[in-house]
Amino acid sequence: MLRTFLRLTALAGTLAFAALPAHAETKLRIGHNQPEAHPTHTVLLQFADKVKELSKGEVTVTVIPNSQLGDARAMLEQVQNGVLDMSVSSVASLEAFVPEFKVFNLPYLFDSREHFFKVLEGEFGSALLEAGRKKDIVGLFYMDAGARSFYAKKPIKTPDDLKGMKIRVQPSPTNLKMIELMGGAPTPIAWGEVFAALQNGVVDGAENNVTALTIARHGEVAKVFSRDEHTRLPDIVLVGTATLDKLSKAQQQALQLAAKFAAAEHKKAWAAAEETEEKKAREMGVTFAEVDKAAFREKTKPMIEEARKDKLQASVIDRIAASR
Ligand code: GCU
Repeated sequence: MLRTFLRLTALAGTLAFAALPAHAETKLRIGHNQPEAHPTHTVLLQFADKVKELSKGEVTVTVIPNSQLGDARAMLEQVQNGVLDMSVSSVASLEAFVPEFKVFNLPYLFDSREHFFKVLEGEFGSALLEAGRKKDIVGLFYMDAGARSFYAKKPIKTPDDLKGMKIRVQPSPTNLKMIELMGGAPTPIAWGEVFAALQNGVVDGAENNVTALTIARHGEVAKVFSRDEHTRLPDIVLVGTATLDKLSKAQQQALQLAAKFAAAEHKKAWAAAEETEEKKAREMGVTFAEVDKAAFREKTKPMIEEARKDKLQASVIDRIAASR
């Protein structure tokens, strides 16, 4: 009797399971512009594993590296239109989509990495992740991308050294303005094309963190990294509202929890990468020059004053200053 009952309930269970389309797998894609060896990629793989685990296999994430889906701006547009689920963008490309992030592109905004994280990990930083929702792009978590400095075949120790130099910048009006004020000729180029531009002499130099020298191989051409540390531009992992809408509440929560986990993993991975990649850059023959930061900072004062005239930008500057 009991046996028959158990057999019947097991059968009912199987039938019920077979008839349950709610557990169908949801496949998401995330695109970014770095090579597979970059912490962005390795940490996104961890993020994907975590999403799968926390959603009990209901949501899987495929990570697509190397600008295979287009440059940062093109991927942002795809996320906004619901063609792509998620992407990674520097605040440089993001400023054209979400004006709250414009200020993050201003030079010498943060005193240190500590100040930077105090802002991003604080209440204000979390609130900002939501700033793009009205544009259909929501931030999941920030990724450190270090301090950006100039690198070229020769040292750039003062603004005078930049005169006449074509410097690759991200396609961001604020970054273009900054290079102009410092005395260089800004040339916007997508990240995936910068190595060729340096090699062919389309530009004389670029500006980025140390992983650009090694993982992106720019150190093969540009042998001097001049540590002026003009900006600290975070990358942000973003998801489209169209994607969020097709997930259940529980699946959305799994995504958020996986984002928290990945943010912590990335913070560790980035700190380690900065050390190991600088070592590797030196082994490649890159030298590191110390720089008169104050002189560069002085040149860019007018753009800070200009930004302060805008109400939204002034309020973001004040919030960042208050976290010192
Ligand atoms: C960094 C950053 C990328 C950005 C790139 C660039 O590598 O992590 O998000 O695209 O700089 O300068 O374009």
